[in-house]
Amino acid sequence: MADSSGKFGSAEFVVIANRLPVDRVVAPDGSTTWRTSPGGLVTALEPVMRRKGGAWIGWHGAPDEKLRPFTHQGLKLVPVHLSESEVVEYYEGFSNGTLWPLYHDVIAPPAFHREWWDAYVTVNRRFAERAAKVAAEGAIVWVQDYQLQLVPAMLRELRPDVRIGFFLHIPFPPTELFQQLPWRREILEGLLGADLVGFQLNGAAGNFIRLVRQRVGHKTHRDAVYLPDGRVVRANAYPISIDAAGFEEMARDPAVVARAAEIRESLGNPRTIVLGIDRLDYTKGLRQRIRAFGELITEGAVHPDDAVFVQVATPSRERVDQYRMLRDEIDRLVGRLNGDVGRIGQPPITYLHASYPREEMAALYRAADVMVVTPLRDGMNLVAKEYVACRYDDRGSLVLSEFAGAAGELKQAYLVNPYDINGMKQAMLDAIKAGPKEQARRMKALRKQVMENDIDQWANDFLSELAPATHTKRTRPSREQ
Ligand code: G6P
Repeated sequence: MADSSGKFGSAEFVVIANRLPVDRVVAPDGSTTWRTSPGGLVTALEPVMRRKGGAWIGWHGAPDEKLRPFTHQGLKLVPVHLSESEVVEYYEGFSNGTLWPLYHDVIAPPAFHREWWDAYVTVNRRFAERAAKVAAEGAIVWVQDYQLQLVPAMLRELRPDVRIGFFLHIPFPPTELFQQLPWRREILEGLLGADLVGFQLNGAAGNFIRLVRQRVGHKTHRDAVYLPDGRVVRANAYPISIDAAGFEEMARDPAVVARAAEIRESLGNPRTIVLGIDRLDYTKGLRQRIRAFGELITEGAVHPDDAVFVQVATPSRERVDQYRMLRDEIDRLVGRLNGDVGRIGQPPITYLHASYPREEMAALYRAADVMVVTPLRDGMNLVAKEYVACRYDDRGSLVLSEFAGAAGELKQAYLVNPYDINGMKQAMLDAIKAGPKEQARRMKALRKQVMENDIDQWANDFLSELAPATHTKRTRPSREQ
């Protein structure tokens, strides 16, 4: 991807994320396949890259493998390798053992280790160097998420000609928590290498600006940071979304409709199916949700003949201690409830520890009468938006945590505080009992919000702020297509 002089690459638009949109999976017989990577970041960005073209730089999910750039289903992918010790120290360690819990309200205690930090610096530099090689002169480079917060400044040093955007997909913590980080100043300075720093919510952008003023000492005014060299960095909120029309189209597919009916059938055609779909993560409030549903059943407010709860938990970061402990805890909770009140062929909770293709998710969304999304803290939560996009029939109810970024937009959901088990039980009960009219009233309003603020809108808003002159016009597919 280098030009003939070898000085610059040829990609006018570059996305850098810790993960490529696909993971390389090696089967026991040695054959390899590619599987969609987990998480909301990939769901959101993949359609953007399909429409805009350009190169996607990221790790392919396996340690100790150096791969050459390749094209996969029309996407230009540029793999970055991580050694086994970098997976442990940069990915599982600093990214997911330090930053992830620190940025999510310290729900789990963050660990601070100097060798994790050193690996984070090394790997961030590798990503920045790769981007510097791939980007064309004056390209737009868009760095994603908490794993790569040093890349903007490192890249600016190597390639002052490119426009650099950064978007944080997860919450940005309040100053009191961020200050615990021994490398707080380095992280802030890393982010300030960007021209535009994007967050999910206004509060997060405000936290960042305040920290930059207090900790780095730069002058700030509203959304702008004034650097001593005259450069201005902006920080704003851009609530991320999904390819809403794409999800709706998938949900309308006759094969998906048939699969939804099959799912209902195999659950015994209960009156109500309650559904949760999450990465298996301690931020998602799974424990609280299962307890709330369990109490509704054991106290008799909901009869096990009438309602079943399906929980899909996608495996995630399985070698990190806190994730291992969570898995054991959820296994125990589900096992106890099913053991206590289940009958032959009728467990109140169907628990699936697996990842499924998007079509299966769409069928589940279509089959579910009540969707419960109850994280203790979440940057946005795209599952909530996916459910709404799939309910073109204006049916179904969404129970949503106030602590998901999506609550700011999805106000007609049944909003809950996931720490308040009684409040959550009441909201679940209200949602289970809602009649078709009430469902339609809420769902219509939710759909208006989700269908009108899709991923194209998000990318357009961010990119036109980052590079107004070069940005191409929005291409929004019509819903009738
Ligand atoms: C969240 C993060 C992403 C991450 C995803 C999956 O959505 O914001 O950056 O890729 O979780 O987590 P994983 O550790 O499997 O990449």
